[in-house]
Amino acid sequence: MIFRSKSTEETMMIAKELAEELKPGSVLGLKGNLGTGKTQFVKGICKYFDVKEVVNSPTFILVNEYTGTDNEGKKFSIYHFDLYRLNSAAELSVIGFDEYINKNSIVLIEWPELAEEYLGREIETVRFDYGDGDEERVIEVN
Ligand SMILES: Nc1ncnc2c1ncn2[C@@H]1O[C@H](COP(=O)(O)OP(=O)(O)O)[C@@H](O)[C@H]1O
Ligand SMILES: [Mg+2]
Repeated sequence: MIFRSKSTEETMMIAKELAEELKPGSVLGLKGNLGTGKTQFVKGICKYFDVKEVVNSPTFILVNEYTGTDNEGKKFSIYHFDLYRLNSAAELSVIGFDEYINKNSIVLIEWPELAEEYLGREIETVRFDYGDGDEERVIEVN
């Protein structure tokens, strides 16, 4: 499905709809150039799960951890990776990447290409691109 978002708010709304399908154990990749709205989308997912922490791209530390709450009030971790600055897939073993992927947590990964290489499989992915003008973004959910 292809969405044409006209604002940051609309991008967050699209994210919230997709968040309904996520649950602990889900891993979602977010692909697309800088500024296409990946982090904004993560904010929308986190809003759906009532995250209280500030959601920002973890550019220097690779991963942020937030606490999400499901609709039954159960708490779980959301791990938000940004692998833009990662140089090689092997570095993921250094940070113990495998342990983040588990049935109790949702994992959201900006720039997931090296994670796919590391895991040896494709991750379910949302693709982001620029659209017309400053504020349009094209968001493709498969
Ligand atoms: N329709 C839109 N959806 C998402 N972000 C938008 C949109 N229009 C403008 N923007 C702006 O684009 C930037 C997207 O930044 P960000 O989400 O950090 O991108 P990324 O994580 O892909 O690098 C923000 O400054 C946001 O305000
Ligand atoms: Mg980002």
